[in-house]
Amino acid sequence: MSATEANTHWPQVAWEHIAGKIRRMSESVGPAFPNGAKDGKYDLAPAHDWVAGFWPGMLWLVYRENPREERLKEIAVACEREIGRTLWEAFDRLHHDVGFMFGLSSVNQYELAGDGEAKRHALMAASLLAGRYNPAGRFIRAWPDWGGEEHSGWAIIDCMMNLPLLYWASREIGDPRYRLIAEMHADTVLREFVLPDGSVHHIVSFDPATGERRGALAGQGFAADSAWSRGAAWALYGFALSYVWTGQARYVQAAERIARYFVAHLPDDHVPYWDFKLPEDGRGMPRDSSAAAIAASGLLELAAALSPAEGGWYRTRAEEMLRSLYTRYAVEDPLEEGLLLHATGYYAQKIYVDAPLIYGDYYYAEAIWKLSRAGARADPQTAGS
Ligand code: GLY
Repeated sequence: MSATEANTHWPQVAWEHIAGKIRRMSESVGPAFPNGAKDGKYDLAPAHDWVAGFWPGMLWLVYRENPREERLKEIAVACEREIGRTLWEAFDRLHHDVGFMFGLSSVNQYELAGDGEAKRHALMAASLLAGRYNPAGRFIRAWPDWGGEEHSGWAIIDCMMNLPLLYWASREIGDPRYRLIAEMHADTVLREFVLPDGSVHHIVSFDPATGERRGALAGQGFAADSAWSRGAAWALYGFALSYVWTGQARYVQAAERIARYFVAHLPDDHVPYWDFKLPEDGRGMPRDSSAAAIAASGLLELAAALSPAEGGWYRTRAEEMLRSLYTRYAVEDPLEEGLLLHATGYYAQKIYVDAPLIYGDYYYAEAIWKLSRAGARADPQTAGS
């Protein structure tokens, strides 16, 4: 391959590398739920954990390319069976992140394998998510009370990525209720989380009875008034998806504002520190490669939703980020399970700092897949929209 060809075809080469890694990982992981990696091996999470959908999501990405890979499908189906059972067996442990879990597992299984049971699981999860809506504050409650804290008035930015499950469910049942809840939540986030400069809060707390705003909280960010980089990535991608599903201009404008902030605050290698507002501009602090992967996939979604003239800038920024992840952050050792090094899970609690994370791996795989297929949509919920 000439240097020019290598330059043009690198996303295909990167995708083949990723698909090979997922096939190898399927041997060591099987039907289980990877979370973060230590010493080259993934720790496993229970099926009710918010990360449970990412591994079956990765298996479906490879399977949709090559439906003869029955073994990968069988593992994904076994994962979905476990995730589906949490609707009964771990109902009180589930929360707003059912969008990540059931969207990538059950919706994919329904859309790619026509499984009606998986569809029912996804619709039940959508009902659970809609049931977390607080009409006084017009937000979806994020978490149960845990860690000795009362969370009934807490909404978090990550929830923007759970909204596609509601949009999808509304389309499937031919009833706008779930879409309306998603839009009301997105409007609250736009008003209360997104700052004029395009940075976003992680958590905003409301009085759960009156809906009155109490204030922003640091959450997984450095401070209440800082800018957690993965939160910005969830917001960018989530608003882009809300635009794809609703066609509302305010959502694409929000995605563009957040994207401009994200890109303007990247260091030279296009991969952010774990927060955009750290002392000394983050020098000496860990990066979060997962934030780069999520944002890059979101930028590709945004670019695909805009005209070529409007979307070109976002697509080029996504390519820069993904090229940097591929050349500087991708794991080369075939014996390591992770795909991407140098992600940060939760810095303040020292949970998976400078480690591979399954959601970083998922969005890296998804973004490279989209790039290598020029404009393809990987999200199971938007793929059919
Ligand atoms: N949704 C949790 C996280 O991004 O860490």
